[in-house]
Amino acid sequence: MSKLVLFPSTAEVNNKGHLLIGGCDTVELAAEFGTPLYVFDELGIRRRCAEFKQEFSQRYTDSAVFYSAKAFINKALAQLFNEEGLGLDVVSAGEMSIVRSAGFPMDRVYFPGNNKSAEELKLALEWGVGRIVVDNFHELELLGELAREQSNKPDILLRLSPGVDPHTHRYIITGNLDSKFGVPMVHGEKALATALAMPQLKLRGLHFHIGSQIAEFEPYQQAIDIILGFAAEMKQKHGFEMEELSIGGGFAVQYTLDSPAPPVADYAEAMTSSLIKGCQRLGLAQPRLIIEPGRSVLGQSGVALYTVGVVKDIPGVRRYVSVDGGMGDNIRPALYGAEHEVVVVNKMRERETDKVTVAGKFCESGDIIIKDIVLPPLAAGDILAVADCGAYCLSLASNYNASLKPAVVMVKEGKARLIRRRETLDDLTRCDLV
Ligand code: LLP
Repeated sequence: MSKLVLFPSTAEVNNKGHLLIGGCDTVELAAEFGTPLYVFDELGIRRRCAEFKQEFSQRYTDSAVFYSAKAFINKALAQLFNEEGLGLDVVSAGEMSIVRSAGFPMDRVYFPGNNKSAEELKLALEWGVGRIVVDNFHELELLGELAREQSNKPDILLRLSPGVDPHTHRYIITGNLDSKFGVPMVHGEKALATALAMPQLKLRGLHFHIGSQIAEFEPYQQAIDIILGFAAEMKQKHGFEMEELSIGGGFAVQYTLDSPAPPVADYAEAMTSSLIKGCQRLGLAQPRLIIEPGRSVLGQSGVALYTVGVVKDIPGVRRYVSVDGGMGDNIRPALYGAEHEVVVVNKMRERETDKVTVAGKFCESGDIIIKDIVLPPLAAGDILAVADCGAYCLSLASNYNASLKPAVVMVKEGKARLIRRRETLDDLTRCDLV
């Protein structure tokens, strides 16, 4: 199988043996905008938004797709998601402010988060976010106080932690029992009753998110069953009507050739059929269904381009190929042991014969993009493209080693537009005071 399947859907190779994305030659993009450069394929993102909407709504009419902004957001992307009719899930004043500055309708913004500050909650109320997803008792009290001064009652969802294991990396599990996120099921009734007893809040429904990069359906089905069982019990005991249920995100992306991800249609089928059957079994009205995909909307449509610098041989040990980015813009390999595939964009037709380790330029031995990959023979000036970098790379980027965060371009039909300029040296001291 060709590695191209891991790249954006518009990826192709031209007659010069160069990788094209969105009809743009990536060798030329690197020359024009410099590297490290993040390239987003507009058609790929839009197709993915449409696919999520369609696959869920054709099986469950009252459903909505909320893109999880933490995967990566900026003004241009917020506008794109608005055009595609998605909602957004934000987790901080910062994300809220970015999407608001892009003119995103705030009633289509949901706000989860395990330790929201009073300031963030105040902003959420002032800016009129659609739902505040209350995570714990402290927040419930805090919001209850703040909402007393509100003329219109805020709509809230209650986040529960269903206690299931999604079989993914331990850093990205969230819905298990031993988790900082959400109310554990044993305290679910108390939290729900507390919320219902607060006339200044409107409890619209429930929320869970069990983790990320989940390639199985069973954990979702288990979680849906647990939450529906809870909703039915609360209906009986407290007259609670679950108008809405958010089942979070977590849809997997294919990062390597031997780890395929299920199609969106299969997730949609498993999730909606569990929900429909569960509601029927328990005599519950079908709630509005919200999904919050992040990684799977943007992941494959983003590519990182780097320029090769030093090629160093340690005889009998390894050949290191160092590039001009690394853990500053993509910390995933170092943090999660994540694997990303790599191609050489100016040598797409050359035979892959050299085993190398692609290293970043940051002062950490752990700053390795990929270990022991076979690529065409490399020299300084070659351009590498790393696949599946749309999600959780730029949003986790840092200025470690006082590096400059990369530029980002959106490509479509042979045209590239800059949607975030590269940081400059002046940006590094912008906040310093002497
Ligand atoms: N909803 C909530 C409440 C979340 O916490 C998350 C992700 C999502 C939705 C979206 O999940 P997704 O569809 O993107 O899997 N930095 C890690 C992933 C952290 C995920 C955090 N929460 C990584 O690079 O693997």
